[in-house]
Order: sequence, then structure tokens, then C-alpha cells
Amino acid sequence: MSSRLAVLASGRGSNLRALHEYLTHGGRGSIAQISLVLSDHADAGALAFAKSHDIAAVAIEGGTLGGERLLAQLHSHRIDLVVLAGYLRLVPSNVVNEYRGRILNVHPALLPAFGGSGMYGLRVHAAVIASGARVSGATVHFVDERYDHGAVIAQWPVPVLSGDTPQLLAARVLRVEHALFPAAVAAVAQSRIALDQNGRATHMHLPNLDDATYVLDSIDDAALRKAIGIALSA
Ligand code: GRF
Repeated sequence: MSSRLAVLASGRGSNLRALHEYLTHGGRGSIAQISLVLSDHADAGALAFAKSHDIAAVAIEGGTLGGERLLAQLHSHRIDLVVLAGYLRLVPSNVVNEYRGRILNVHPALLPAFGGSGMYGLRVHAAVIASGARVSGATVHFVDERYDHGAVIAQWPVPVLSGDTPQLLAARVLRVEHALFPAAVAAVAQSRIALDQNGRATHMHLPNLDDATYVLDSIDDAALRKAIGIALSA
């Protein structure tokens, strides 16, 4: 049976769009459908997208005060899986408790590095560049009570290139998010990946080498390209 998804988004909603595109093509509607979009910003692009695609769209205040209202919305729309796509608030603990193992987030760096409170938007990419790291990436993980902390479900490396600005790196990582995030959501919706008793994902969702070709092609350092290629095909 198709899983009913709620997407929580604070901003423009490009990951929401990518997820919607993925689920409405190739017969994937039988895996999951986006049944509700929630935002803590009434003017979020994500809400506008939902309205224009006949998806229930609700603005709700964030923070712990919003927990009961959030749960009430999730119940009334019979939501199976909660997906954070650029949601900037901490998910209230009553929501995490009820949906543990059924809440996912996408983050624009390789967690556990460059995550946590205050690490969002361009700040993440600025910190990666300032650190001198040669590789960043995208992470999809289960959500727990702490920012960017739950078990990793999927990761995909993205090179940091010389001359990168936070904006350039953000755009490169976002392309990967748009591919990785829907695939990871589908894997959890189909119970191919779950949260185990030790608080880890039962499997790691690994992208295949074909999907990663454009990432590899953009790397101008042959040794790094080879290292990432080997890691992806392992
Ligand atoms: C993405 O980079 C995501 O990783 C992070 O917030 C950003 C949201 O972008 N959590 P969008 O609203 O999906 O375009």
C-alpha cells in the first residue's frame, strides 16, 4: 500500500519538488504519495508548490508549542512517514517519539561533520570550505531529538573545488540531494531500510556508480576521482 508522506519545509522547497517529481513518475505512486505539506512559514515556497499541486498545505508555528498541533495534523491526514526537507526547527519530542524510525531529514554535508544547531543554509558550505575539506556531500538520516544527529540512511560525496564559494558548493550539493533524498525516502517507505534496535539504519543506501557519474566527471583531481569511484562501487 502506498505510504502517506508529510513533508515539513521552511523555505523554497526544491527537495519537496524533487520528491514529488520522483514519486509521480515511473509508476512510483504505489510506493508513496505526498499527502500533506507543513511549514512554519506561511509564505514558504513549499506551501505554494503544495497548493498548486492539490496537496494539503498547512502553516503551523514551530517549536515545542507546535508539537500538539503538528501531531494532530499528522493524525488527521493518516501520515505514515514524515520527511524534513529544509525544515529549520527542532522537531518536538512528542512527534519524534511517535514517529521514531519514520522521520527523515536531508542535510547538505557529510554528517556527523558540519551539522547541528545553527548549521543550515550557506553557513554549512562556508564552514566546509573554511575547514579545507576536499569532499562534502549530502546525507539523509533518521531524525531524533537533536539537530542533524539521527542514524545515517544514505550519503553521497561531492567534491569541494578550488575557487568554490558557499553558493557554488551549495548548488553542487543540492543536485545530489535531489537525487539521493527521493531514493532514500522510497527505501524507507518500502521498509527496505529501517531503524534497528541499536539506533542504526539496518542498511546503508548506496548510490550506484552510474548515478554518480556526473559527480565524478566534475572532479579535476584524478586521485580524488579514483578514490571516490572506488568507494562508490564497493
Ligand atoms: C537543503 O539544502 C537541505 O539539505 C537543507 O535545507 C535545504 C533546503 O532546500 N536541510 P530546499 O528548500 O529543499 O530547496
